[in-house]
Amino acid sequence: MKILVTSALPYANGHIHLGHIAGAYLPADIYVRYQRLRGRKVLYIGGSDEYGVPITLTALKEGRTPKEVIDFYHNANAKAFERLGISYDIYGRTSWDLHIDTTQSFFRKLYDGGYIFAREMELWYSIKSNRFLPDRYVKGQCPRCGYEDANGDECERCGAQYSAKDLINPKANIPGDNSAPILKTSLHWFLDLPKFKDRLFEWINSHTEWRSNVRGMALSWVSDLRPRCITRDTEWGVPIPLDHPEAKNKRIYVWFDAPIGYVTNTRQWGIDRYNDSHAWEDWWKNKDTKLVHFIGKDNIPFHAVIFPAMLMGQDDYILADNVVGNEYLNIFNRRTGKSEKGSKSKGNMIRVAWALDKLGTIPIRYYLCAIMPESKDSDFDWDEFRNHYNGELCDVVGNFIHRTLTMTVKNFDGKVPTPGELDNADIEMLNAVKEAEESVAESIENFRFRQAQERWVDLGRKANGYFDSKQPWATRKTDVLRTGTTLYVCMQVVKALAILMEPFIPEGSLALAKLINIEIRRQGPEGGNDIWGSISSPLSPGSPLSTPQVLFPKLEQEYIDKLAEEHEQGLAS
Ligand code: MF3
Ligand code: ZN
Repeated sequence: MKILVTSALPYANGHIHLGHIAGAYLPADIYVRYQRLRGRKVLYIGGSDEYGVPITLTALKEGRTPKEVIDFYHNANAKAFERLGISYDIYGRTSWDLHIDTTQSFFRKLYDGGYIFAREMELWYSIKSNRFLPDRYVKGQCPRCGYEDANGDECERCGAQYSAKDLINPKANIPGDNSAPILKTSLHWFLDLPKFKDRLFEWINSHTEWRSNVRGMALSWVSDLRPRCITRDTEWGVPIPLDHPEAKNKRIYVWFDAPIGYVTNTRQWGIDRYNDSHAWEDWWKNKDTKLVHFIGKDNIPFHAVIFPAMLMGQDDYILADNVVGNEYLNIFNRRTGKSEKGSKSKGNMIRVAWALDKLGTIPIRYYLCAIMPESKDSDFDWDEFRNHYNGELCDVVGNFIHRTLTMTVKNFDGKVPTPGELDNADIEMLNAVKEAEESVAESIENFRFRQAQERWVDLGRKANGYFDSKQPWATRKTDVLRTGTTLYVCMQVVKALAILMEPFIPEGSLALAKLINIEIRRQGPEGGNDIWGSISSPLSPGSPLSTPQVLFPKLEQEYIDKLAEEHEQGLAS
């Protein structure tokens, strides 16, 4: 079995924020790191989404070319992901030439199969700017819910889709142009989604294990399928591979090419790694591959309905085994005491690079996992940040590790002690290690990352209780053998934690592994050993230990207040 994992390709028109991380990147990274530790063949694909109106509109606003915009944000985001430890096998780009080839071949196959047809449409056109106004280039009032800021053919608030001429009171939405547009006819190409209806139903219905938010949204989409326009009047995108005069100055719609980016990036990965231009097929066209998409909830229809339909139309591609969609991470505003949506214009979102500069990777990953919006929206809250990190990672896990290492190094010559006979409490503690190995794995495999993290923290909690009840600091003076047994058992928990925490806080795992002189290798997409399965195999008596260091220093209240303050002033976005 192979596991192919994707995270949504963020638009290269802005910096990635913590909300994105909690939604589509951290859960995927935890999942992938865990699978690597199991020695399974897992490949993790990511990259930038570089076409479409989001890019050209940003370029217009910032007075730069689209190419300048995507180069800047692609590099910035690739760097931010790397610093946060998001361990992609490749972070590609949809502006690559190779992507034109992949996208056009998808298009052609669908066209030849009779799944794409052309139709004339009436679209908004600005006389002032002498151009059509696709997507967000026009704003107006939603004909269904009355929302004032609705897009040309889709309302962001109520999800309504309508034809352009139904938009009420339209205005161009370009810097320097908010004129009232006129309707003009243009020929476009449509993906004939209703032709996939039965197959989509059957496929989604066969996946009862999906999260209910994803399944529910997918099923409601499939019950109301319409042909979808997959071309736009723009110069920024993949050219339409048809020899038609009307195709010349139009491009393929970004939501058609973007998910194909997963395939392009897999192709490029195979070329880079093996110099093999066919290596990707062994993932995308192999019935033995489990494809898992990690996304935020706004991307559900594209990954659970439209892209799968596009894949069905190719004949030989696999379909997703799971689409893991998270809800939103909102921001708790200390001043108003209310939770609010993260928004660019409010400036309340927290840039990954900013957070890394201020906090480093461990507290960020730990806290975002603790509040991951898996089944409902959750709030980013600075006080909670400190409580979770200080109260759990520092006080429970870090404290246990530190006192075990300090006492062992000091009293047993820097080595794991030799145990005497084990009593019931010792055996129970060691059994808890084995249980954690299984239960954390089970949670991750079921995409329950919050629960997975709670479970290894619980092991630390239990181990603190064991340590307290055995009182090695007291027995040290009376019964060295007993003390050695206690610390031997504690050391097995420490070793287990080093592996258990790797998917969640890899930097902490690495630092701990160094202290106890074990190596946790990163295994490649070809697979390897079941390192996870060795969580409960004991560290031998006599193994050398290094001088302990505090792994998780506490965050001071004043410092957190200062960050919250900067965040409120908009300095974090
Ligand atoms: N760029 C899109 C967004 O930020 C996500 C694209 S995901 C992909 O919402 F599958 F299309 F790549
Ligand atoms: Zn609406």
